[in-house]
Amino acid sequence: MPRVRPLVPWLCAAGFLLAPTQVPAADPPRADLVIADFDGESYGAWTVEGSAFGKEPARGALPGQMAVDGFLGKGLVNSFLGGDDSTGTLTSPPFRIERPFISFLIGGGNHPDKLALELLVDGKPVRTATGGNDRPGGSETLLRESWDVAELTGRTATLRVIDAATGGWGHINVDQIVQTDTRPKGMLKDPRREFVAETRFLQIPIKNGAAKRVVTLLVDGEVVVRNDIELADGAADWWAPMEISAWRGKNLALVVDKLPEDSAALASIQATDTFLGPGSPDPLYTEPLRGQFHFSPRRGWNNDPNGLVFFEGDYHLFFQHNPYGWGWGNMHWGHAVSRDLVHWEELGDTLAPDATGPMFSGSAVVDWKNTSGFGKEGKPALVLLYTAAGNPAVQCLAHSLDGRTFTKYEGNPVVGQFTPGNRDPKVFWHEPTEHWVMTLYVEEKAPSGQGVHTIRFLTSPDLKTWTSQSTTEGFFECPDFFALPVDGDAANKRWVLLGASSEYQVGSFDGKAFTPETPKLPGHRGRGFYAAQSFSDIPASDGRRILVGWFQTETRGMPFNQSMSVPLELGLVSTADGPRMTFTPVEELTSLRTASQRIPLDVLEPADPNPLADVAAELVEIRAEFEPERGSDVAFRVRGVDVVWESKTEEIVVHGHRAPAPLQGGRQTLVILADRTGLEVFASGGLTYVPMPVNLRADDLVSAVKAIGGPVRFNSLEIHELGSAWPKGARGPDR
Ligand code: FRU
Repeated sequence: MPRVRPLVPWLCAAGFLLAPTQVPAADPPRADLVIADFDGESYGAWTVEGSAFGKEPARGALPGQMAVDGFLGKGLVNSFLGGDDSTGTLTSPPFRIERPFISFLIGGGNHPDKLALELLVDGKPVRTATGGNDRPGGSETLLRESWDVAELTGRTATLRVIDAATGGWGHINVDQIVQTDTRPKGMLKDPRREFVAETRFLQIPIKNGAAKRVVTLLVDGEVVVRNDIELADGAADWWAPMEISAWRGKNLALVVDKLPEDSAALASIQATDTFLGPGSPDPLYTEPLRGQFHFSPRRGWNNDPNGLVFFEGDYHLFFQHNPYGWGWGNMHWGHAVSRDLVHWEELGDTLAPDATGPMFSGSAVVDWKNTSGFGKEGKPALVLLYTAAGNPAVQCLAHSLDGRTFTKYEGNPVVGQFTPGNRDPKVFWHEPTEHWVMTLYVEEKAPSGQGVHTIRFLTSPDLKTWTSQSTTEGFFECPDFFALPVDGDAANKRWVLLGASSEYQVGSFDGKAFTPETPKLPGHRGRGFYAAQSFSDIPASDGRRILVGWFQTETRGMPFNQSMSVPLELGLVSTADGPRMTFTPVEELTSLRTASQRIPLDVLEPADPNPLADVAAELVEIRAEFEPERGSDVAFRVRGVDVVWESKTEEIVVHGHRAPAPLQGGRQTLVILADRTGLEVFASGGLTYVPMPVNLRADDLVSAVKAIGGPVRFNSLEIHELGSAWPKGARGPDR
């Protein structure tokens, strides 16, 4: 029994962009005639009107534009000059139509009336084409299209590029216009495939880097979600599971905006209950570049951690997820849960893009007092606050009683747009004033017109209605805001405001406004750590503030990309310069230790053999406390990566990257964690955290340490082999 029942012949093209025409079979094709390649210093005999096209062809992207690709040679027509609001026309000199086809590359906005490449005969448009983008996001890739002009052979024509559009996607890109005998491959417009939902997934074939197609899922004729997907026309690099279990028995249709007529993309979609590729039949999570104790999604891309919260025994990790791409896009909220912050189980996506836009970053809270009314007798609601990043960009909420199924609030949005791009609500309950507080990133304009990064503080009695209270400057994206005890003294807490870069300020908070008491201070000291967020609602009996960041290790060739840092316990310690944050890996990670050695070492001399020589392990944790004598350096090498502490500078150099790492009372304490996806190094009692995303070499299992330039006294040296945090033998979804 086939699991998928086609309702109608599976491919039904709503129309051809190119009408098929017979080319005389006998004659070999004549050489193409290039009408324009826009590779010269000027537009030549073309006439420019208005300001959108400038005096000469563009050489790629213009200021403020996303990367433009797909054009040929050095230049192209790009009407983004001066931004989307500029308008104008560009008209060719007359030419004779001498081939049955005119083919060209085209991109930009999709406004058939306002953005067009037109073929004019006797001054009237006889063929027209427009770009492919009609909403935020999208792609600046030019694609080939063509017209059948056989019936116009011998006529004199002109070409006109029109940009009469302003606002989002108000520009058009054109290149490489040629007359040709060879019928270019046609594009099917809105081809679709229909299914009855009987399995858990539709497996979508992905080719990394292919043109992005707009793929719309309809359930019983209603649009449910649209995604921009790099569909594989031929062999797939990997398969992206589209979860359809919610619509069992219903009629589904996948409609693609356009596809080459010989694309196998729709035909190759498979209905399955398991994953395709790594994970099935091979165990999931054993892929060569899969971090073994850093969370990464089973499939697709992740960026920011979102909605970190402890609720009914589970730590919840939501995250910015592109289920259908190896790169950023189609922002969903992925979802994983853990009982111990170490072993994560990924559930399906929780929030999918909708008419209000893609689901950007945000936070989660438990509404213990049922201020929102989403709770039920004795059951508090778990509430997610997220940015719907459409136009306008607004703040919304979704709620749940079980932490598994979430309902978007019908009264959304709960905060309207202040300025475009405002985003990333982080919410908490402020007990002294008994209201909710939201920190939100808002870009304001200085009187000069210059953008100013600000964090706005809003308050609410019920999570649904919000009032702006104050603003502080200097932080970009993904704010977090929390109180930490100074030197562990619960009676002396200071507030910490953190931006996406993990730079922070320490200060005080009265429930409405933040008063900084320090300058902006650096957070992490490494690379590829961003948009970190701390857990909400960790029980008071635990009392820790635990942070997870986006750990940006690329995993090329894998059906997944990027990961999260290990969970980090935050502290605030007094230093001579004032209070400073510390980062340490959470205690729970010690549960991964499978073999431990405490090396009995007193003084390490430069000529000594490597004390860690017995260990050959892929996943390691090294802990050391040492006192360098007479200006000696301490050089670790872990799985091919150098971690060198330098006496002279009191710096640590991780993979060539320097960070301050002062001695404390003449001592240095170091923790090094090594996973397949890189190192995390903690120095100076946690004052220095150096994340270092790098794919470690599978064949280098050596850990080593040596003293350079003089003896080093080791108070302790431990090395632990770690096991994987993933379940053994997992084969894709098991829930
Ligand atoms: C930070 C960020 C957020 C935004 C999200 C979108 O990495 O740009 O500001 O909400 O990513 O994925």
